[in-house]
Amino acid sequence: MRTLITGISGFVGSYLAESLLAQGVEVWGTHQPGANIDNLQGLVNRVNLLEYDLLSNQGAELIARVQPEIVFHLAAQSSVGRSWDDKEETINANVNGTVRLLEGIRETGIEPRILLIGSAEEYGLVKPEETPIKEGNPMRPLSPYGVSKLAAGLLALQYHRAYGLEVIHVRAFNHIGPRQALGFVTSDFAKQVAEIEACLLEPVIMVGNLEAQRDFTDVRDVVRAYRLLADRGKPGEIYNVASGKGVPVARVLEILLSLAKVPIRVEKDPARMRPSDVPILVGDISKIQAETGWQPEISLEQSLQEVLDYWRNHINKVHN
Ligand code: GDD
Repeated sequence: MRTLITGISGFVGSYLAESLLAQGVEVWGTHQPGANIDNLQGLVNRVNLLEYDLLSNQGAELIARVQPEIVFHLAAQSSVGRSWDDKEETINANVNGTVRLLEGIRETGIEPRILLIGSAEEYGLVKPEETPIKEGNPMRPLSPYGVSKLAAGLLALQYHRAYGLEVIHVRAFNHIGPRQALGFVTSDFAKQVAEIEACLLEPVIMVGNLEAQRDFTDVRDVVRAYRLLADRGKPGEIYNVASGKGVPVARVLEILLSLAKVPIRVEKDPARMRPSDVPILVGDISKIQAETGWQPEISLEQSLQEVLDYWRNHINKVHN
């Protein structure tokens, strides 16, 4: 089995590569020219790495070279916060980048299964009676990122309907774990806790909106879901990948503060607030469960402990 992961050097890409290699699958992966590939430490000699600019017109060349049976399209501008600061970059990477890849696949006539990674942000504003959110819920995105992922998903489904491409669209809810970049809430909080413990910061943690509720799944459970969907998902269908549990961001903060070795005060940072923030995203996972048997296994507490330990090690390495 030969697979291609776009965005292999990213947070999720590196875990997916590890998981596929452990199954004996041949892994090819693309990263942006000049990208940091630190996440691939230990994997570099076991995967076939290619530089690929999402906005180049080299999609067909890439697909013809790799001849994948499965494509996991992960490469994206994945930060909701950043999408407010650079809307055009987000639309370019997430919409145009996806179309160029799909166009490349269509041109070659090779017929891989394509797992297109979308987002819970596509749902956006959800009414209380619509929670947990099913795949058929009305779409009301509230961020440039949400719009970009919705557009990419809809375009991909056109490629399925019009050209028969075997696209499976995944709406991933929040996923967390060690190695996630800054700009995502658990890394942003855990890094500050680690810096405070190392006396690099005053004992004050800066936070944004604590009222939002999100549905967190450990990245290792998420990549297992992606593998199962690539294997058993139905082309032309949409699947939520989530835990099914809503957790206020305040609770994430509370758990991290309970794991901290020193007392920490909390302060609101207006710069961390977004022009609009989806109040609640909790996924209904009955569809993926019924069709693949997938079940998340790693608890939020365990993930947060590992995220914090990751940042403790990171700070230790950087400063010692
Ligand atoms: N990043 C960040 N940093 N978010 C904060 C902070 C902070 O210091 N303080 C509070 N928040 C709040 C955000 O306003 C949001 O309500 C929540 O924490 C989660 O923020 P993120 O971790 O940035 O994730 P997200 O929910 O916006 O988007 C994530 O989930 C999507 C799926 O639901 C990302 O992983 C996306 O890539 C993914 O598609």
